[in-house]
Formats: sequence, C-alpha cells, structure tokens
Amino acid sequence: MPADRVQERLDALFAIGGGQGANRVGGTEGEQRAHDLAAAWMAEAGLAVEVDGAGNLFGRTREPGVLLGSHLDSVPQGGRFDGALGVVAAIEAVERVGRGAVVAFRSEETGCIGSTAFAAAGPLPSCFLELHVEQGPVLERLGAPLGLVSGVVGIVRGEQVFEGTGGHAGTVPMADRLDALVAAAEYVLHARATAAGIDGAVATIGRLEVEPGFGNVIPSRVRLSVDARAPDAERLDRLVTELGLQPTFRLEPVGTAQKPREALRAALEERALTVVELASGAGHDAAVLAAAGVPTGMLFVRSLNGGVSHTPDEESSPEDVALAVDVLADALRRLTA
Ligand code: GLV
Ligand code: MN
Ligand code: MN
Repeated sequence: MPADRVQERLDALFAIGGGQGANRVGGTEGEQRAHDLAAAWMAEAGLAVEVDGAGNLFGRTREPGVLLGSHLDSVPQGGRFDGALGVVAAIEAVERVGRGAVVAFRSEETGCIGSTAFAAAGPLPSCFLELHVEQGPVLERLGAPLGLVSGVVGIVRGEQVFEGTGGHAGTVPMADRLDALVAAAEYVLHARATAAGIDGAVATIGRLEVEPGFGNVIPSRVRLSVDARAPDAERLDRLVTELGLQPTFRLEPVGTAQKPREALRAALEERALTVVELASGAGHDAAVLAAAGVPTGMLFVRSLNGGVSHTPDEESSPEDVALAVDVLADALRRLTA
C-alpha cells in the first residue's frame, strides 16, 4: 500500500547513520546513502534519474515542469520527518500523477547549499512545491492536520570571535583577567535580549568553540555561531545591526505564490479540511526557490509533541502524513492539468 510505503521509506532513511535519531549531516556518508536510496526509489517509480553539478538528485517524468521535493540531510540526532518526508512524499505524488519531477536538495541544514546552487544555475522550474512537517505547535493546538504556508522567515547566520588572554586558572586574580568566554557569555545574553526586543525575531547561539578548551586554563579565544531570524527584511536588518553581525548566510523573507497556494487550497477544501494559513519560522529550500522568482507553494503537516523538531522526538501521525501525500498529489494534478 502506498501509505505503508511512505512509512517504510521514512524508516529506512531514519535508520541511516545509527545512534540516536537521524544522522545524515550534509556532506557525510549518511547523506550520500540517503541519496542512493532515493535514487533507487525514483528509478522504481519510472522516473529518469539525474544528479546535477551540486549533487542534487532529480527524478523526472516526461512533463517535469512542476518540481516537488525537499532535502535528505539532517541535523545530528535529528528527527524522522524533517526534509525526508518532503522527498518521500514527492516521489509518491509524482508517481501517482505521472507528471512533474522530484528533487532531493543537498545540505539544507547547513545553509540551503544545494538549492542555492540549483537556483543560481537554472533552468528554473515553472513551479515548486514542498511538503514539510510544521516543526512548531500551531497546527496541533488548532487540531488541524495540515496547514497552508503563507511565507518563510528571513534568516541570517554568522560567527563572532572573542579574544582574551590565556592563563593559569589558579594564579591569575579575577580582577586581572581577560576571559574570552566571559565576553562570549555576555554576547549570548545580548543576543537573547536583542531578539526578545524585536517582535517575531529569534536568535540562537548553537555552537561555541573555546580555546584552548581545558579545565584549568583561562579561555583565550572563543568562536560562536549566530543564527538570527525575523519575519520581514526591516526587522532582519535591525537584528543584524544590533547583533553586530557580518552574515555569511542570508535567506530573505519570502511569501508563497498565489497559483500553487490556490492549488493546495483547492485540494484541502475538496477534503473538507479547514484551511489554516501560517508562516514558517524554519528555513526551507522552498524559500530559496521563491527568492529566485519560482512560484512556490508549501504544505505543512501537523507536528505532535508540541511541535518539537531537530531532535529524535519529532513526530507526525501516519494518518496526517497519508492525508498530506494525497493533498500534495492533488495539487500537482491541478497545477499540471
Ligand atoms: C532548517 O531547518 C532551519 O530552519 O534552520
Ligand atoms: Mn527541513
Ligand atoms: Mn531542519
């Protein structure tokens, strides 16, 4: 049964890498094994399989104008659905409809590397659809299985480096210290206060590298990562300025396009589902394509457990997933009729 096949494929992807949760970080063997599995499933679906110069994987029908897909890389100890669901569902929908094409983009979690290369190289599809788990609590709280994405937040990422003076943990008086980790800690609190002061903004320091990183040595250098997000360009710019950040990555805030949104809406309404519109706080390959001018639509599946994501506890029900695949296929049918 197709619905069981979707669950089996999600299980197969989740099992890659071993250990806790999904372990298919971009550029690792885990991501490659996932691409190999997806290539076999695309071939099984009768699609013409191709890999582009950036390593993105495509499976095309004879009418490949509308592209569906997502990414197969994960964060370390990630969830079962993030990215994987969008690729598995796309294969299912394209096989059912017999039109369109599937893509598995490379390294989404590390900065949408594959989709950015694809958007720069072209040719671009006539439309892009991405199915994804919500990764938040909105649909669960509303009791709605699916949601129509109105737009995706803007994201900037960068690094900050703090220099101090190393020394002996036992002999340098507190008043004489220049501890790089203390400066970094103050910055972490500044980032929290800054984001809290801008409506809808968030900021996360997810990685700290402390040098020399030894228990009885005063830290001499700290490098930390900054991930900051806001719903519109004005608030994103304000965040960048107030954080003193020189972004190495920027994904503009984007809206979804009317045509794919209406196709998804019609597919939801045909099933008598309430149409819940919501914005995405997570970044997506869909946002890269939308920013490149591709008419883009996104469908969210309800996340359970309060919407937890980027952890092994990420959960969505098989019933919601099966419904989402039906809606995705229906939208593809409408867009290619
Ligand atoms: C991707 O999951 C992101 O929003 O960072
Ligand atoms: Mn994702
Ligand atoms: Mn993710």
